[in-house]
Formats: sequence, structure tokens, C-alpha cells
Amino acid sequence: MNFVDTHCHLNDEKFSADLAEVWRRANELGVSRVINFGDTLKSSAAVVALAEKFSGMFAGVGIHPEEISDFEEKNSVEKIIELAAQKKVVAIGEIGLDYYWEKDSGARLLQQKIFIRQLDIARQLNLPVCIHEREAHGDALKILKTEARGLRGVLHCYSGSLEMAREVWKLGWLIGVDGPLTFKNSAKLPEIVKAAPREMLLIETDAPYLAPVPNRGKRNEPAFVVDVAKKIAELRGEELEFVAQYTTENAEHLYKGISGKW
Ligand code: NI
Repeated sequence: MNFVDTHCHLNDEKFSADLAEVWRRANELGVSRVINFGDTLKSSAAVVALAEKFSGMFAGVGIHPEEISDFEEKNSVEKIIELAAQKKVVAIGEIGLDYYWEKDSGARLLQQKIFIRQLDIARQLNLPVCIHEREAHGDALKILKTEARGLRGVLHCYSGSLEMAREVWKLGWLIGVDGPLTFKNSAKLPEIVKAAPREMLLIETDAPYLAPVPNRGKRNEPAFVVDVAKKIAELRGEELEFVAQYTTENAEHLYKGISGKW
């Protein structure tokens, strides 16, 4: 079986002591590819460096909505474009909106502006987009419908409603599912996963955060993406092998750069 962990942060210092071991454990379970995402210019450079070093690792570059103090119009745009030109960079992300941590309306407007600016970079470079969106469902959907036209991408660690998911799918965007699907308080996520057209689902860990059951609370790692896939199989009444197959195809279809030789 072959899995792709489509959203991860193996550049995190929590992996600095044993990254090679973590990656070996993932490979042994068939998790042969991972996409690490940056959230600042610095971490974007770090995930590009990891992709250069490890076979099977790819990178997404961009500035996260909680990190926009890092953003300066000219310099940041130039730097993101420069990083995105590197071999094994397959996406712009993670970018988006986070209203959970940001309550100030002016700062939220600035998040929108910088999100849209980075969508333009994705369009210019013909790259797919990985979106972080938390408690900003309405504005995120509005931007998807207007400013993101013609782009492809995923709402990673999806936390919206089923109604919103249906709109997202209609626009041709996918949702990324991770550890919270396996939690007891997973709320509406199981219903959304059951209702999802299978070509609209990606699996991810968001490691080191959000480890799925039975490792909830521990450091997350790409090997655990198999537990997310198992939960999807259980909920949808499918074989694990089938879930592995179609989520891998979906990942290759969206993130074209991960196909072929790695
Ligand atoms: Ni993330």
C-alpha cells in the first residue's frame, strides 16, 4: 500500500533529533511521500532544504495568516517566488485566514489581502494552493469564489460544515482530513467524510500536531497518516487498500510535482 501525507511540518524542532528514524518508520508503512509546508519565509526555506535532502519529501512555500507580520509586499513576494522555483516545491501554502487567533477586524482585512496576494503568486506560477482556514468560513468561501478562480487546491485540516464542504467541492477544491477525524469529539467531520465524493479527499497528519487515535496527545508523525486512512475506510465501508489508492491518486492529481521519480 502506498500513502501520501499531504500536509506536514517535519522541519519542526520536535523532529530535529530523530527525523531520519521518523521518516524510515513512515516508509516502512508505505508512506513514501510527504509534503512539508512552510508558514514563514524562514520555515519555507527550511522545508525546501528538507526536500532537497530526503527522497520522497516535497515542499510548499508561503506565509501563514498568523505570521503575516513577516510579510513585506515587495521582498516577501520576490522571496516566495524565488523559493517556489526550487526543485520539489509543489505548492503555495500554507496560506489563508485564521480568525480564531485574530479578533481585530483591521488585522483580519490584512490577512485577506496577503492571502489574495499569495493566491496571485500561485496563479502566476501555475501551482496548487494549500489553505489554512480557521473560523473564517464565510470570508474564505467568498475569496475562493472570487479571487481564487482558476486555481486548484485544498482546504487543509478541514473544519467547516457539510454545507460549506459541498460548496468547496463544487468549486473543484478538495478537503484535507487528519487526526481530529479519529477523536471522540470529531463533531461533524465523520458525516462530511461519509458524504465526500472520493476524488475530493486528501489525507494528512499536520505533524507534529493533532496525532490521531491511538497516539492522540503524542507527537504526530507521517506514519500515523495510516490511522486517518483506516478511519476513513471504516466510516465509508471501504477497504483500507482502496482508500490508500484513491487518496494517493488525488494527491498526485492535485500536486502534480510529487508524481514520477522522487
Ligand atoms: Ni499545517
